[in-house]
Amino acid sequence: MAGIKRGIQFLCLKSPNERKIGHCTKVPRGINMENLQSGYLFPEIFIRESNHVQKKPHARLIKLGVGNTTEPIPDIITSAMAEQAHALSTGQGYRGYGPEQGNMALRIAIAEKFYQNMGVKGNEIFVSDGAQCDISRFQMLLGSNVSVAVQDPSFPAYIDSTVIVGRAGKVQMETGKYGSIVYMKCEPENNFFPDLTTTPRTDIIFFCSPNNPTGSAASWHQLNQLVEFAKANGSIIIYDSAYATYITDESPRSIFEIPGAKEVAIEISSFSKFAGFTGVRLGWTVVPEELSYSNGYPIINDYNRIVCTCFNGASNISQAGGLACLSAEGYQALSTTVGYYKENAKILFDTFASLGMKVYGGRNAPYIWVHFPGFSSWDVFSEILENTDIVTVPGNRIWSRRGRVY
Ligand SMILES: Cc1ncc(COP(=O)(O)O)c(C=O)c1O
Repeated sequence: MAGIKRGIQFLCLKSPNERKIGHCTKVPRGINMENLQSGYLFPEIFIRESNHVQKKPHARLIKLGVGNTTEPIPDIITSAMAEQAHALSTGQGYRGYGPEQGNMALRIAIAEKFYQNMGVKGNEIFVSDGAQCDISRFQMLLGSNVSVAVQDPSFPAYIDSTVIVGRAGKVQMETGKYGSIVYMKCEPENNFFPDLTTTPRTDIIFFCSPNNPTGSAASWHQLNQLVEFAKANGSIIIYDSAYATYITDESPRSIFEIPGAKEVAIEISSFSKFAGFTGVRLGWTVVPEELSYSNGYPIINDYNRIVCTCFNGASNISQAGGLACLSAEGYQALSTTVGYYKENAKILFDTFASLGMKVYGGRNAPYIWVHFPGFSSWDVFSEILENTDIVTVPGNRIWSRRGRVY
């Protein structure tokens, strides 16, 4: 409900005619916020969902809209968090600030669980309050003078955070896209991987695998090409592996499986999708010591400054939960939960496939991508919502004032 309220406020702000009447401060709205397109995707979904509930108050909604988790966290993990919380009431167990980079035991456990034989060390892992927050921290670190490429379609936070730091250029009304962002088409026709021979050089390349929303995981060969491309161009890949634990085939689970990636990539990841920590909030970013700016200065030093200045470290209760997730028993319990979400994805995949539709994803991610040729994806969204009470995500991530047809 709180989310729906936020969405409605967002709508009120988008039209100049609907702005607040009454006392206003003298503080101007920043040009970058003005430049953000009218609806970040999820608030727009919340608005449509809430309108539907108003029309049909007894509808039993199935929400496949925001990538939220629904399944309870295994007891072994919540017990560890409860124990940590109780310890805070004791002189011996109380902990205040720090370490800002995360508890070393957890940093090492992450390195051992997810980066074995990849040369990633505990001190290169920065524990955080989630991948989405780390995306913005990286944007802050890089400032407004770097150029950016994103997969198209992609998780909207990459684009919106680029707009917020003032790097996106003006939105093109015909396409709904930002003039200074390079959109790398990743659709079924190109096997969900960009044609790098025609992709212009940018400083930063956001790359998510398995990708939200297509559910497609890049192969070793594709990621090798991406690393080579970044190396040749002197670019940095910001690799989002939030769904890596959903991979069932041979696709790499980390960019650091690719030789040379430590010189060109950072990796952002999360406990949200495999441990149900969407509300607990816990994630991490790997910043390799080898990664440097054009002047040779190590980026890890600056990231450390950003973390110390703008964050101050993840909750010690969440981190205790994170450590329990990575214990043998905790991880085993979580694989059952991941299996449950994958089973749901399979049901959806099989249902659409049995209707004769082209369906992608599902195998390496909880997302499936369905093709509705000739229809606007927001129209398909509305039709599914109105007729089945199921909230989906429109494949068209761009919501321009003209309501672009995809
Ligand atoms: C690709 C991707 N990255 C990051 C996030 C956000 O992760 P977190 O909850 O750790 O902020 C999401 C959430 O949906 C996502 O889909």
